[in-house]
Amino acid sequence: MTTTELNSPKPVAPKFATEASVPSNYSPSALSELQKISQLDEAVEYGAVLTLRSEEAVPFVGTVATAAPGISLGFLNQINQALMRCTSAVAVVECLLHSTRTLRVATDNEAWLYDRGTQRLQPIQQQIRHRIPANTIEAVFATGEARRGSFPVQRAELFYLCVPLASSKQIYGVCYLGSTSRAFSRDELEMLTAIGNQAGAMLETLDAKAEQERVCENMIHGLALTIDARDEITAGHSGRVAGYSAAIARYMNLSANEQRLTYYAGLLHDYGKIGVRDDILCKPSQLTAEEYEEIKQHPEYTLSILSKIKFSEGLKDVPHVASCHHERPDGKGYPRGLKREEIPIEALIIAVADVFDALTVKRHYRDPMPLDEVIALLEAGRDTQFEGIVIDAFKRYYYEEFFPRYKRHRR
Ligand SMILES: [Fe+2]
Repeated sequence: MTTTELNSPKPVAPKFATEASVPSNYSPSALSELQKISQLDEAVEYGAVLTLRSEEAVPFVGTVATAAPGISLGFLNQINQALMRCTSAVAVVECLLHSTRTLRVATDNEAWLYDRGTQRLQPIQQQIRHRIPANTIEAVFATGEARRGSFPVQRAELFYLCVPLASSKQIYGVCYLGSTSRAFSRDELEMLTAIGNQAGAMLETLDAKAEQERVCENMIHGLALTIDARDEITAGHSGRVAGYSAAIARYMNLSANEQRLTYYAGLLHDYGKIGVRDDILCKPSQLTAEEYEEIKQHPEYTLSILSKIKFSEGLKDVPHVASCHHERPDGKGYPRGLKREEIPIEALIIAVADVFDALTVKRHYRDPMPLDEVIALLEAGRDTQFEGIVIDAFKRYYYEEFFPRYKRHRR
């Protein structure tokens, strides 16, 4: 027969067993520390250090968790520190599952994360011999109420704990521990609830950061449209340069964050042209030396304008990278004449993508250059105007993706 005990009325920071009516194996001091840990979600801010200091935890370790000998404040502190290092929701849940396994109080553990796309709970399994009924998981997710109970399985009884992964604002998933050899105590339920709330706090932090990144991406797309709108003949240049740059970064096996930075800096590489006069920017003939000097100011304008915008953490280097796309490895670039090691690799990539696009589309004063001549021109600038490894990556992209697509579209 299935039995279910409802616990914890809300998915927010759990009320630990401080009430006289609830028996506890924890000392009042330890419970106070546990409450601090469980309330970390209220203290979450970007960059904040959210760990209890180990010297605070040590005096209580010997008095904690007689029901689950493996649990100590030091252990909770370790979980908290491990969770703080996670950079994705799946990593948070895997960390949680790994940590609870090391307690050795359960034979089964599994967690589910809510997927907004499919609007379903997606399982993230660690160790499963017996499945907890789906309606129990869904009930915990829907109500935010932790549960402790048992149900019959194969001539045995499966005891379980099932808690929400919840912050003070939202429920992100569910975690389950199961055992056929022993029942779980109320203390263990409270402990797992506290751990679930730590995970929930971290999931909320990651969620907020992801939202900031999305807002920043949308802003950059909007800014790129404003510069393209200045001149219809160069419209689309920012998007194409960003696309080529991201492809080169991919062929260079840069990290996902570096590829993303390259793409968004590519979108804004010419943003400073918004500060250049129309009669120069849109001039339908060759620029004079004086006009060219004016155009050369645009990377400085890019830096000074974009530096006043607060970019998200992952894209905070966009202003600097964008302002370096006319620098050269031999130090003869502008505006600062930086040397190879002083120029971000993302800017060296954008430099190649920028020249390739500028030469292969129609400009005010000339027609597109034949592709093979553009490739030869890039090669001629190897290690002086352009970084050699970037040229290599660009050519792999060009022959494997760009040129086959170009030929298909010409048919
Ligand atoms: Fe430029």
